Amino acid sequence: ASVLILNGPNLNLLGTRRPEVYGSTTLAEVEELCRQEAGKLGLDVDFRQSNHEGQLIDWIQEAGPEVKAGRSIGAVFNAGAYTHTSVALHDAVESVELPVIEVHISNVHRREPFRHHSYLSPVARGIVVGFGVYGYVLAINGLFQATR
Ligand code: DQA
Repeated sequence: ASVLILNGPNLNLLGTRRPEVYGSTTLAEVEELCRQEAGKLGLDVDFRQSNHEGQLIDWIQEAGPEVKAGRSIGAVFNAGAYTHTSVALHDAVESVELPVIEVHISNVHRREPFRHHSYLSPVARGIVVGFGVYGYVLAINGLFQATR
């Protein structure tokens, strides 16, 4: 089976974007980290990034049947700023049978108040916040344990 790892807006800039907040690891390096970790669990990785809300919604809708068919265990999702704005992403996750682990590299709760609310948290299976890119490793393991 595989695990879907979805990254939202601006995460393509990881490594150069505000390294004091997000660290200096690039998204390509995060992908490699995820492949190594998932490999230990016998999982393949489907790693994606988009700056477009509708594209992320399409991918979530497509992921539901993959889980039903037993080809995927669910998704690790860093929705970036759409976390704090998108009712549409909330509805997409709620509309499919897709276990989602919400991930944030930074601890959003010690940052600006507009980052404290998440539209995804009420529909997430679990949440990992503030552990840097290691959060992806934690989320893969958490999703695996929660769905086995
Ligand atoms: C983020 C936190 C969000 O508030 C921000 O808009 C991001 C990245 C994180 O991983 O810490 O783009 O999701």
